[in-house]
Amino acid sequence: MAAVEAVIFDLDGVIVSTDEYHFQAWKQLADAEGIPFGREDNERLRGVSRMESLEILLEKASRAYSDAEKTAMAERKNAIYRESLRELSPADILPGVDEMLEDLRGRGIKMAVASSSKNAVPILEAIGLADAFDAVVDGTHISQSKPHPEVFALAGERLGIAPERCLVVEDAAAGVEAAIAAGMPVLAVGSAASHPGATLRADDLTGITTDEMLGLAGR
Ligand code: BG6
Ligand code: MG
Repeated sequence: MAAVEAVIFDLDGVIVSTDEYHFQAWKQLADAEGIPFGREDNERLRGVSRMESLEILLEKASRAYSDAEKTAMAERKNAIYRESLRELSPADILPGVDEMLEDLRGRGIKMAVASSSKNAVPILEAIGLADAFDAVVDGTHISQSKPHPEVFALAGERLGIAPERCLVVEDAAAGVEAAIAAGMPVLAVGSAASHPGATLRADDLTGITTDEMLGLAGR
């Protein structure tokens, strides 16, 4: 791995524990429609945009839904999700994140958030990290969501760092694939840690040192 000059973090499931709120909101919607939906189905929604997530959820529906119905369902899901975000605070920052950000900042490493979410900015504000990154690229800036590389390529460009020197941190299979497609090494955490394409793996950010992340120490 080339020496890392920038770290690009996914948001949901890497920096903050919103992934459970996403699941609960989709589950509520699916239950109301009588569509089977469990945690295994939810894994496929990680890193994927809201409308694409809805399409995946509807694969198990017993009838077809019109475009107008789909728009209304996505809005309903987002309203439920936004309601649960009212509870969000710095206590929802995932283990090891604050320490990692501080260490990277101290070493002069550039940092960005690259998320498929259109709610990224209010989430960063709620957890007190709105000013912690050199760039924030989210679902409002891109036309193709992960596994397409657009969000990571744009984050790398905004930071002014070549792709092979940007380390992506991801918890989603779609995100690991997007990073690889962008030509970036990737640290896979959580349920993505078993992804065969990952450059580095850890259960969470307490499970890896900054030196290991930056390619300064072997693992
Ligand atoms: C990603 C999540 O970060 O954002 C997905 O992992 C989610 O589960 C996607 O569907 C879109 O989020 P939002 O907030 O725009 O509905
Ligand atoms: Mg994620």
